[in-house]
Amino acid sequence: MRSDANIAGPMTDPVPGPRTESMGGGVSRETPPPMDDTPIGRAAQLAVEALGRAGEGLPRPEQTRVMVVANQKGGVGKTTTTVNLAASLALHGGRVLVVDLDPQGNASTALGIDHHAEVPSIYDVLVESRPLSEVVQPVPDVEGLFCAPATIDLAGAEIELVSLVARESRLQRAIQSYEQPLDYILIDCPPSLGLLTVNALVAGAEVLIPIQCEYYALEGLGQLLRNVDLVRGHLNPDLHVSTILLTMYDGRTRLASQVADEVRSHFGEEVLRTSIPRSVRISEAPSYGQTVLTYDPGSSGALSYLEAAREIALRGVGVTYDAQHAHLGAHNDQSMVEGIQ
Ligand SMILES: Nc1ncnc2c1ncn2[C@@H]1O[C@H](COP(=O)(O)OP(=O)(O)OP(=O)(O)O)[C@@H](O)[C@H]1O
Ligand SMILES: [Mg+2]
Repeated sequence: MRSDANIAGPMTDPVPGPRTESMGGGVSRETPPPMDDTPIGRAAQLAVEALGRAGEGLPRPEQTRVMVVANQKGGVGKTTTTVNLAASLALHGGRVLVVDLDPQGNASTALGIDHHAEVPSIYDVLVESRPLSEVVQPVPDVEGLFCAPATIDLAGAEIELVSLVARESRLQRAIQSYEQPLDYILIDCPPSLGLLTVNALVAGAEVLIPIQCEYYALEGLGQLLRNVDLVRGHLNPDLHVSTILLTMYDGRTRLASQVADEVRSHFGEEVLRTSIPRSVRISEAPSYGQTVLTYDPGSSGALSYLEAAREIALRGVGVTYDAQHAHLGAHNDQSMVEGIQ
């Protein structure tokens, strides 16, 4: 595992590829019809326009950043955040691998990756010690984005792992042996704190916790944080919570801003200034096997994930993020950067 570049490169043109099956013809769009008629060209063009800074790249990390997207609470936006942040980082010019560690396989579905039972998957890596390189597939829509899919086999892995040697560090070993250069690895965890999530916490240095802006948002987080402390103490001294992302934020409600305030006073600097708005486009995209970045690149949901990715990339190299100059395109929705609301 290594990172091949620490220079800021311009966003590259994604490779045109066949992905017609996932572009729904009758899909309604927030953005006007694009000029380029290949879907990927369309996506890239609109994303670049939306960012308003074609040719400007983001700094790449010196070493691969392995980020564990975890929260044992279900439905808070772990998978949505994993796939959309990963696509955003790739559109910003990075090389990104998504590891789907949830037997539901939602991240694989959202990235349009085949994950029926016979497909080589992360189960084979964890339980059969198969090299990660043999299961990784390129994501057809986005250049620089890859996925290690999960199949239904993974449902049995929690139990099968128990009797295996080094059961907590099997993913870590697989990642360490992976030779391809990568800037980011994002691991999508299941909504539990079992051996699969422990494998993720041992494999990564950074934990990214998506928090849904709803009542009880912080409930149960103490248990996750204790697990992070335990894994840091015994298995992975580098592990820390680096990033908190507020998801499904509805700037019109008092509840959302109250939850945001509470999370900020609790976690402080770890909370990204950018929050993700509740967006129909975000929730529609997976049923087309797409991220919101290719499904509707100019939508508020796509822009907020692009901006969150920018913030993560800048923080990673120690650059202070300036929320006043957030690239929120035509939407300029202040609720996405509720630090300045
Ligand atoms: N910003 C958003 N706006 C609207 N809907 C969203 C948003 N983020 C996530 N959703 C929807 O909320 C649901 C839960 O999201 P997601 O699957 O990402 O959560 P999760 O934490 O991965 O769930 P699980 O714990 O089951 O793995 C999905 O239907 C998703 O489409
Ligand atoms: Mg999920």
